[in-house]
Amino acid sequence: MTPIDLRSDTVTRPSPEMRRAMADAEVGDDVLDRDPTTRRLEERVAELLAMDDALFFPSGTQANQTAVALLTRPGTELLVEANAHLVHYEFAGVAANWGVQLRPVATPDGLLTGPLLAAAVRPASPHVPRAGAVAIENTHNAAGGKVMPPSVMADVIAAARAVGLAVHLDGARLWNAATALGVAPGTLTTGTTTVMVSFSKGLGCPVGSCLAIRAGMRERAWEIRRRLGGGMRQSGILAAAALWALDHTLARVPEDHANARVLAERLADAPGVRVVPPESNIVMIDLTRDGQMAETVVGALARAGVLVVPFGPRRLRAVTHLDVSRADVERAAEVITRALA
Ligand SMILES: Cc1ncc(COP(=O)(O)O)c(C=O)c1O
Repeated sequence: MTPIDLRSDTVTRPSPEMRRAMADAEVGDDVLDRDPTTRRLEERVAELLAMDDALFFPSGTQANQTAVALLTRPGTELLVEANAHLVHYEFAGVAANWGVQLRPVATPDGLLTGPLLAAAVRPASPHVPRAGAVAIENTHNAAGGKVMPPSVMADVIAAARAVGLAVHLDGARLWNAATALGVAPGTLTTGTTTVMVSFSKGLGCPVGSCLAIRAGMRERAWEIRRRLGGGMRQSGILAAAALWALDHTLARVPEDHANARVLAERLADAPGVRVVPPESNIVMIDLTRDGQMAETVVGALARAGVLVVPFGPRRLRAVTHLDVSRADVERAAEVITRALA
């Protein structure tokens, strides 16, 4: 039987309809004189996010890195929540690419707040580096898809602005944040200078992210993307998938959140686990039995037909997405319960 793959929302495969949209895309050379479908996507994303412009990228990591280059100078610090993607999963790109130091801000639950940020900003001094910019992540992957509500975000932006810092929003799962909050994605970008969104996660595309920017930033963003090897040619084939997803899969993201809740509810009484109630499409499952380790449990679950990832020595992560149904998560809950009994 095909395993139920809850390792990540990046495992989705493009549907036949999405593939058809890709095959039919009108294309040009995006480096030479713009690819028309890519341009259409960039304009659509800028409008959707209430930003001035956007650039298409092959990955969220490259878009995040471009944002850091745009907002900082070498020898400055990027203030960011301690478990953000930029801290753990970009191979120290902030340091290696731009000579920028990460200043991770510890939080109890992954939610960076205005007061926590304000406390982390050091007054100008001849002894310490200057802050360069702030990055926030909504939803927060490592914090279990935690949603940053608009009021908290406004506080963080106010704290950043108070010391003259611009804010980058890593919105790889901004679609999930907007869905969880019941608001339009464009309402979650107010006050930011750059915003990254991904198409290859909850929206089910094979590849692609956009970096939305403010007026006047395009030329430099384009240069940095090119330097990183992100200048693509007939990128309309990929942009067409993203346009198709905005039309067809964005509206079904609530199903993923409902499925995550069902998984959590079904596991609530299972022996040997404590489930963190999900705010979006990520379910964190803590192992509570002495000596039971995530790596071993992940192997046992894989043999029983459910794929999840270890997220710490005694924590598992399960992510719902386009390619898992309600029946799948119900079966996954049964398998997990049985495996841990
Ligand atoms: C919050 C967050 N930011 C950035 C990225 C990077 O995206 P990509 O894998 O497209 O480089 C991810 C990927 O999982 C992510 O979860």
